[in-house]
Amino acid sequence: MKIAIDGPAGAGKSTISKEIAKRLGFIYIDTGAMYRSVGLAALNAAIDTTNEDELSRIIEDIDISIKNIDNTQRFYLGVDDVTEKIREPEVSVAASNVAVVPAVRLKLVELQRRLAESSDVVMDGRDIGTYVLPNAELKIFLTASVDERAERRFEELKAKNVDTTFDAVKNDIIYRDKNDSEREFAPLKPAHDSVIIDSTDLSIEEVIDKILGLVKERRNVII
Ligand code: DC
Repeated sequence: MKIAIDGPAGAGKSTISKEIAKRLGFIYIDTGAMYRSVGLAALNAAIDTTNEDELSRIIEDIDISIKNIDNTQRFYLGVDDVTEKIREPEVSVAASNVAVVPAVRLKLVELQRRLAESSDVVMDGRDIGTYVLPNAELKIFLTASVDERAERRFEELKAKNVDTTFDAVKNDIIYRDKNDSEREFAPLKPAHDSVIIDSTDLSIEEVIDKILGLVKERRNVII
């Protein structure tokens, strides 16, 4: 079974996807971390993250790998463990920028489809239901108000001692919402057959319950 969870930045996709995968015994695939890794590679190489030509040129040489260590997924760029580094606000914006470039998306989508090929997966991102796994048995579009998403992301960064402000986090989210949904190739949008969940006034547990209820329904249909 494939479960696609799409939605804008800060809607809670990764927390919820991780937990759903754990409870169902599925593999969780964080596609945002892949775009973040490419964004970081571009920043490390001092490449303008909006320069499509440069990014198309370097993408083939970027070596991203994922390793499972002590039951957590670690992301590597070459031999460097970048798991924490890719969460920094500067990398969020870089990820959204490099994600506009078709050559970048094509390479990462190939990797994502390969990872999903032979397992039950929960995959989160922006274009999973519309482009990466169009035949997913369950598609969720998880959203929340901009203020709620900014608040959640701000608290998350504060807990990690990242030096930022609520306004800076909110502005990054507004920038990414626009960039991610207005790009030409595989933009952020709900798949026509997705279930839209607005989590503004819902707890994490309530969202998980809703999704697990839908999984149960769909599984009965599939069997
Ligand atoms: O989910 P995230 O915040 O970690 O994603 C970082 C950026 O990567 C996001 O702003 C847009 C891009 N992205 C994408 O374009 N397609 C995906 N499937 C996942 C992420």
